[in-house]
Amino acid sequence: MTEQAPGKVDMEKIVSLCRRRGFIFPSSEIYGGLSSCWDYGPLGVELKQNIKQDRWRAVVQERDDIVGLDSSILMHPQTWVASGHLEGFTDPLVECKNCHLRWRSDDFKGNICPSCGGELTEPRLFNLMFKTSMGPIEDMASVVYLRPETAQGIFVNFQNVVNTTRMRLPFGIAQIGKAFRNEITTGNFIFRTREFEQMEIEFFVKPGTDEKWFNYWVEERTNWYVKLGIKRENLRLRQHSKEELAHYARLCSDIDYLFPMGWSELEGIANRGDFDLVQHASFSGKSLDYFDEETKEHIVPYIIEPSAGADRSFLAFLCDAYEEQLAEGEIRVILHLHPALAPIKIAVLPLSRREKLVAAAKQIYADLRQCWMVSYDDAQSIGRRYRRQDEIGTPFCVTVDFQSLEDEQVTIRERDSMNQIRVPTSELKNTLQSKLEGESLFILPPGGQIWKGDKGE
Ligand code: GAP
Repeated sequence: MTEQAPGKVDMEKIVSLCRRRGFIFPSSEIYGGLSSCWDYGPLGVELKQNIKQDRWRAVVQERDDIVGLDSSILMHPQTWVASGHLEGFTDPLVECKNCHLRWRSDDFKGNICPSCGGELTEPRLFNLMFKTSMGPIEDMASVVYLRPETAQGIFVNFQNVVNTTRMRLPFGIAQIGKAFRNEITTGNFIFRTREFEQMEIEFFVKPGTDEKWFNYWVEERTNWYVKLGIKRENLRLRQHSKEELAHYARLCSDIDYLFPMGWSELEGIANRGDFDLVQHASFSGKSLDYFDEETKEHIVPYIIEPSAGADRSFLAFLCDAYEEQLAEGEIRVILHLHPALAPIKIAVLPLSRREKLVAAAKQIYADLRQCWMVSYDDAQSIGRRYRRQDEIGTPFCVTVDFQSLEDEQVTIRERDSMNQIRVPTSELKNTLQSKLEGESLFILPPGGQIWKGDKGE
């Protein structure tokens, strides 16, 4: 897991970019940080929000067979007995007899400590759920758990959704929210952390149609990453072996991404069968079956579950977008982020800080901010400002120059090609809208022209 995948960006470069430009900071850094917890800075929060928004749009807004849910993180403790997490959500843990570091024993072979070479203990099972207590008295009766997956909030609300909506099989419930796991081995930046966000769908289907829906979701989810710019060759599908399957799963395939440390899981698609609804019905004593109007039968639906991590997707989108180019003796870092994901969509750059120019540029900045996340930058040379925007993935820069004051035109510079067009200010918003939606730069609005100095300097 720690080796560098051939031809891939170095993880150190991604971490350094995130730190330098305010995507991600170590949690509680002024106190020395907290192991494997991270804070999303001003640009990071935008990128993560955009990932979650696009996912919500794709699976809830644009579909008529999935509804959303936002269930609580703390749930009745019986939930975790019924789900099997209290019993089975464990990793084999070994401890070094010398340095006392703890490791997941299935991460490596042998019984030698990877850190100091000391001898390791025999593995023992370690439950990954975080415990806390509810109310003022700390005793066994008050123990609750931070949810290790968002899925259970969906299962326990299955009947509520059926009763309050007109959803009929096949249909899904989607949720995006925090999950917590006391992971033994963390690391690789935000790849595996103890607090993270999941984006899950539980898709309820008639038994017998589950295989078809499983295949459907594998394809649908893969296409989502590709649509948002991940190169298809950096994705692969990996089916779990029988020994590897989670206790609830009949079948599971991972969509793996070629991360800097090698192929690793980005999203899992599982066929959970009727395990969860049967378990919760049995432990709660409440019926969680479904009345099929066609056959007039009560059935327990099967569940197909596409489950992704928002943080892991964040890392994959960053790694895939990262490129270094050598331009005029300098390294130019470009994040080729899809416009839908880019934290800042447009940067407004006045050519100088002269008063008249600033007034015109600020007016444009205020106007564009009504529609998108826009930044304004007037520090240093225009070339340096372009580089700064390239590095954070801003798809378009709008430059206001002295000629703009006379002809009421501005230039639009495209991040990836560095090409420029010049358009009337009155056409700017519509033009940017079309370009952000993917229109070719050289399709011009009325009065627009291809700008000559197309190197962007
Ligand atoms: N409900 C099914 C479930 O939770 P999972 O494979 O354990 O399945 C689903 O988790 C996704 O959640 C993973 O594919 C990964 O993207 C993300 N994930 C899981 N554990 C994580 C962790 N410790 N840190 C970051 N993301 C994690």
